[in-house]
Amino acid sequence: MNAHAPVLAFEGVDAFYGAAHILHGVSFQVRAGESVAILGRNGVGKTTIVNTLLGIARHGAGAIRFHDRAIERPRPYQAARAGIGVALQGRKLFPNLSVRENLMLGAASNRAGAWTLDGVFDLFPVLRERAEAPGTALSGGQQQMLAIGRALMANPDLLVLDEPSEGLAPVIVDELAAVFGALNAKGTALLLIEQNLSLVERVSRRFAVLAKGRVVEEGSLDGIDRTSLQRHIAI
Ligand SMILES: Nc1ncnc2c1ncn2[C@@H]1O[C@H](COP(=O)(O)OP(=O)(O)OP(=O)(O)O)[C@@H](O)[C@H]1O
Ligand SMILES: [Mg+2]
Repeated sequence: MNAHAPVLAFEGVDAFYGAAHILHGVSFQVRAGESVAILGRNGVGKTTIVNTLLGIARHGAGAIRFHDRAIERPRPYQAARAGIGVALQGRKLFPNLSVRENLMLGAASNRAGAWTLDGVFDLFPVLRERAEAPGTALSGGQQQMLAIGRALMANPDLLVLDEPSEGLAPVIVDELAAVFGALNAKGTALLLIEQNLSLVERVSRRFAVLAKGRVVEEGSLDGIDRTSLQRHIAI
């Protein structure tokens, strides 16, 4: 794989819910093996980026490319098959399924690759201990691990994480930061949507800031002044 080829590219993307125009000409790229953060306050359109990728929000003008192929009509199952793993905001687990069953559903896309149930259990040992428990009986942190594990079961080239730290204790966020770093070091590209700057600084090298559905700033996180980022997040 070309180390600099874009895995995911948004090129001037507009997106809508019904008539409501939410994303305006959004452009950004995640290159192979890279970790890119999307920052922005509540309601600016961060999740709509994910929903557009999944075909939940309507994609108007602009192009979405995955491995240089335009995704003309995005659909949730196509994303998983193509190699995009998504841990949705708020975890979104199946309430009546066990931890093990939630993970096996993640493998339903049948993409070949290295991830197995045992691999996910090695990454998150607490999930092995709770394998037969209903997913929703887990703590918030464990549910987030399950959502990530489920996404990994599809052997994604790109893992999309929508506010994974939301509502979690700092010690759990530290654990997730280590896991994201390790996944990225092994070659999984990351699109990390976050308002937690300390997590972003540990996991991503580049960022884009969204405000009112537009990218208003982007650049490298190396050596950036934290207060200049903070103003895009603090309410
Ligand atoms: N299904 C929907 N139908 C109509 N409007 C929606 C829908 N989902 C979100 N919106 C609106 O789209 C805008 C962007 O929402 P979005 O969820 O993308 O924001 P966000 O940046 O992810 O916010 P948060 O940080 O709170 O998760 C908001 O004004 C929201 O009210
Ligand atoms: Mg959101």
